[in-house]
Amino acid sequence: MNQDIQTQDQLIEYLTSIDQQHLITYIHNYTQQQITEFIDQINQLNRNYPGGIKEYANRARKLLLDASEDVNPFAEYTAHVPQGQNVDIYSEEYCRLEQLGVEEIKDTCFVLVAGGLGERLGYDGIKVALPIELVTNTTYLEYYCQFILNLQKKHGNKLLPFAIMTSDDTHKLTLQLLENNLYFGLQKEQVTLIKQEKVPAMLDNLAHFAQVPGKLLIDTKPHGHGDIHTLLYMSGLAQKWKNEGRKWLFIFQDTNAQAFRALPVVLGVSKENKFELNSVVVSRKPGEAVGAICYLVDKNNKGLTLNVEYNQLDPLVKAQGGEPVDEQGFSKYPGNINCLLFSLIEYETVLQETKGLIAEFINPKYADATKTKFKSSSRLECMMQDYPKLLGPENKVGFTALNRRFCFSACKNDLATAQAKQKSNLPLECAGSSENDFYWLNAELLRMAGVQIPDSVSDELNYNGLEFKFGPKIVLHPSFGVTLSEIKSRIKGKVQISSNSTVILGGQAELNSVNIDGYAQLFGNGQFNVDIKGADGPKLVALEQQDGVPGYIKIRGYRLQK
Ligand code: UTP
Repeated sequence: MNQDIQTQDQLIEYLTSIDQQHLITYIHNYTQQQITEFIDQINQLNRNYPGGIKEYANRARKLLLDASEDVNPFAEYTAHVPQGQNVDIYSEEYCRLEQLGVEEIKDTCFVLVAGGLGERLGYDGIKVALPIELVTNTTYLEYYCQFILNLQKKHGNKLLPFAIMTSDDTHKLTLQLLENNLYFGLQKEQVTLIKQEKVPAMLDNLAHFAQVPGKLLIDTKPHGHGDIHTLLYMSGLAQKWKNEGRKWLFIFQDTNAQAFRALPVVLGVSKENKFELNSVVVSRKPGEAVGAICYLVDKNNKGLTLNVEYNQLDPLVKAQGGEPVDEQGFSKYPGNINCLLFSLIEYETVLQETKGLIAEFINPKYADATKTKFKSSSRLECMMQDYPKLLGPENKVGFTALNRRFCFSACKNDLATAQAKQKSNLPLECAGSSENDFYWLNAELLRMAGVQIPDSVSDELNYNGLEFKFGPKIVLHPSFGVTLSEIKSRIKGKVQISSNSTVILGGQAELNSVNIDGYAQLFGNGQFNVDIKGADGPKLVALEQQDGVPGYIKIRGYRLQK
């Protein structure tokens, strides 16, 4: 549909022509105003989706037919171990690649996908407004902005662009958070919000659209984070950044603070291997609910490095006699964490050729065995990690495998889910585990820089069948160092921190002779020589009651007792 619908007659003709006439059966029951609103909605939906809703329904019908016939999308493929680079954090190689990557930071653009509802977490606000930890209450969004700010400081303050994909569910609150906090120190013009739009929900295999109950409007649902590629194309951002001579595009999720620690090394790996797409991956156990990166080969011997969602992996590997594992029982198909680095020149060319339209999928919940109608409405979805489906065998796709706690610890699950995961010995991915991992990583980075910190527990929490063991609560502000080598350069003498301590380090602080057993905040440009003893720091304690407790504490189940 190239032209907007203007009149009721055009509306009726159009919907009839695309087999959606059921939407207007009772049109005479609605006012002119309601009909005008419906026309506006159809025009908007047509503008948002390349090819309009006609194309959307056509694609849906094909996918729905496949789904009803149980077509395995990978039936034509065999899975092989993919090619990429394993980097041990504790190795010399890590430092070398970090140095190589640091040079590239000045040419990097940042993209946060933050349109997700976060239903599994059960938090009443947007996820990026959640504090990562309770010592400073720094939110995810603030932390990301601080990181970008300190990365650009390393390179003469050349502004690094930052785009955030929002949705109707997150846009207003994300903008408010930025505005209320003066963009956390970034320049307003370097931050761009791009909003993804929803797509029509469908009732049956013929892709008949669902209506909002009692209204003359199509019911709509989120289309998934794969929208980021279409939006970077349609907004012209990818093209603008390429024309400005920028080289890299880093896409990360809403609640993974660790992503920025991985960036320099991942840039180094991409540069050295000339990867067009480099996915950060972690080890995963067979059966774990994490997408697996595989090298898929089709019948014509054409290969493709691609994420296979865990529910589709099983039928694929069964046909090949099971999933290959290493000596420690980890799968040879590493886990995708949706932290993606693109080489901008090739990426933008692909966007021009494909409009960034990622292959979609549908997951209908059928009402009965005839598999024709749905229990609840369904919609097309797309995932950003399916981008390689737009590429050919000549495009270089690889991965960087890193130790999991160094690059990934997301906050996605509520306490009940976390409890079930703990029982099954799986990563919890809840607010408590991500706070724990955040302190741990900061402590570990200091240890690698020569600081003496015992690896023992200070706060042990046991509640609702969950168990958390916290060590020292260490917060490293990005100004203290955006790379391991920078953090190392801050440690000048003998520095010791006890496991009971709570420590905040920031600014250009240089630690000479430092001994902390308690609470300390060393923030600034000076040389520090301090000996702090017995000044008891705050403790994490289980919540005694829920009344009047803010949402970000409730989803933890514990609070900080000062
Ligand atoms: P998640 O897997 O965490 O899903 O998304 P979600 O929708 O946020 O949370 P649940 O499933 O409702 O619990 C991974 C990343 O993709 C973003 C999320 O904000 C998160 O950063 N996302 C997800 C979008 O930007 N848009 C979407 O339509 C879906």
